Amino acid sequence: MKITKICCIGAGYVGGPTMAVIAKKNPNIKVTIVDINEERIAAWNNEDVSKLPIYEPGLAEIVKETRGKNLFFSTAIDEAIKESEMIFISVNTPTKTYGKGKGMAADLKYVELCARNIAEVASTDKIVVEKSTLPVRTAQAIKSILHNTGNNVKFEILSNPEFLAEGTAIEDLLSPDRVLIGGESEDAIESLANIYGTWVPQENILRTNVWSSELSKLTANAFLAQRISSINAISELCEHTEANVNEVAKAIGMDSRIGPKFLNASIGFGGSCFQKDILNLVYIARSYNLNAVADYWEQVIILNDHQKRRFSDNLISTLYNTVSGKKIAMLGWAFKKDTNDTRESAAIYVADHLLNEQAHIAVYDPKVNNKKVQADLNYLNTRSAEENNELVTSFEDPYEVSKDAHAIAIMTEWDEFKTYDWQKIYDNMKKPAFIFDGRNILDKDNMESIGFEYSSIGS
Ligand code: NAD
Ligand code: UGA
Repeated sequence: MKITKICCIGAGYVGGPTMAVIAKKNPNIKVTIVDINEERIAAWNNEDVSKLPIYEPGLAEIVKETRGKNLFFSTAIDEAIKESEMIFISVNTPTKTYGKGKGMAADLKYVELCARNIAEVASTDKIVVEKSTLPVRTAQAIKSILHNTGNNVKFEILSNPEFLAEGTAIEDLLSPDRVLIGGESEDAIESLANIYGTWVPQENILRTNVWSSELSKLTANAFLAQRISSINAISELCEHTEANVNEVAKAIGMDSRIGPKFLNASIGFGGSCFQKDILNLVYIARSYNLNAVADYWEQVIILNDHQKRRFSDNLISTLYNTVSGKKIAMLGWAFKKDTNDTRESAAIYVADHLLNEQAHIAVYDPKVNNKKVQADLNYLNTRSAEENNELVTSFEDPYEVSKDAHAIAIMTEWDEFKTYDWQKIYDNMKKPAFIFDGRNILDKDNMESIGFEYSSIGS
């Protein structure tokens, strides 16, 4: 099928950047991104591209170049579905918070709503592309909804999971390791492959069956997260044996079978997907009664929770077993650098634990504002919004946030943290001045020569 118009349902961290790049590389295709969230669409349409709802290096420039030409953001969902030959579903698939599978399974209600919406309004044949991360065999459910409720038009369903990482989304989209397309109809697969083929070499476009494609996405995230939990497990052992986790990571990473990437010990992985996708994998395995498989992958999450917990436990015990009434400065709130996304950020859980111990938390993150910090803590429901507001303050300056603090906790690996005048920060802190480097980004010798009591992960 010749594709001239594409619609993407969901203007989020995936839909926005992915469609912006598709539009840039396919100037003859009209790309419309739709969403039910009016505020988000208005932000995407903001004249000032520094105010887009998502911060990603390089994104604003591409939106500026394509918006209004062949890239459009709109809340007119039905209209966009009707006119498009290809429709991407890129809505959120969070962990269920109710009913069967609560806390484990992916909540597919938003995906199902999209399928029903498409079925209801489509009056011509469509290729429907699963871009959201979905449990294996979801395409079956989408197919059933489309075929049973549609207006007798033909639907082809493709699975095209997204592998971009936040903070490097544009780079990842422009030169992906691979693009994965799962489907039954060769014609539909090639229609999508042609769109990617305008900038991705054909040998990097992998065609599989739908189920392999769906399962590969969950598997990739599980393997990536497993590496982090593996190195984090070793970091704890390092702390007891005078080994240094950075040295161990380098030594094992030079083995070409292991490779050097994704071996940074940390306060634990965050982000909207690793935990949710592994929980989903565990849930699926259990639903087939594959308990050994489920237990194996569940351990990745258990270790990650342990890592977050032991970071805050260590901070409390080092501060003479009490943080009550003490100002703890947190540098970074985002789940990783170069993003304004805070979903499942380890910072939220560490802060919550310290707040239970009556600490006063001061936060500085270059891209996250106080409203977001408060919302993240309120979402946990551990204490009232008033209490969170009283105990947690955000600052817009790294020197203010650390003034009179008993300790600094580095939660995100923002590059700018390495460039600060650490002597100035030390001078304005309470003594002894502690640093807990949850990202191993500062130089221990340098920090200690200034006078800091410095501790990092895994040494
Ligand atoms: P997101 O929450 O940022 O965006 C989803 C958007 O979908 C929201 O703006 C929401 O309003 C909209 N939406 C929900 N239901 C809708 C409906 N019925 N009609 C119209 N709009 C609707 O989510 P995201 O981070 O972009 O993730 C989307 C999917 O991509 C998820 O399945 C996720 O697992 C997967 N994924 C995410 C990443 C990532 O880095 N964030 C990477 C790869 C894959
Ligand atoms: C991850 C995957 O890397 C993407 O391929 C995938 O598409 C995406 O999930 C998804 O499905 O959502 P993302 O979560 O955006 O991307 O970012 P990552 O770079 O994977 O980082 C995730 C978390 O792991 C962050 O908190 C990061 O700080 C942490 N991390 C990463 C470590 O602690 N150590 C590392 O060595 C690498």
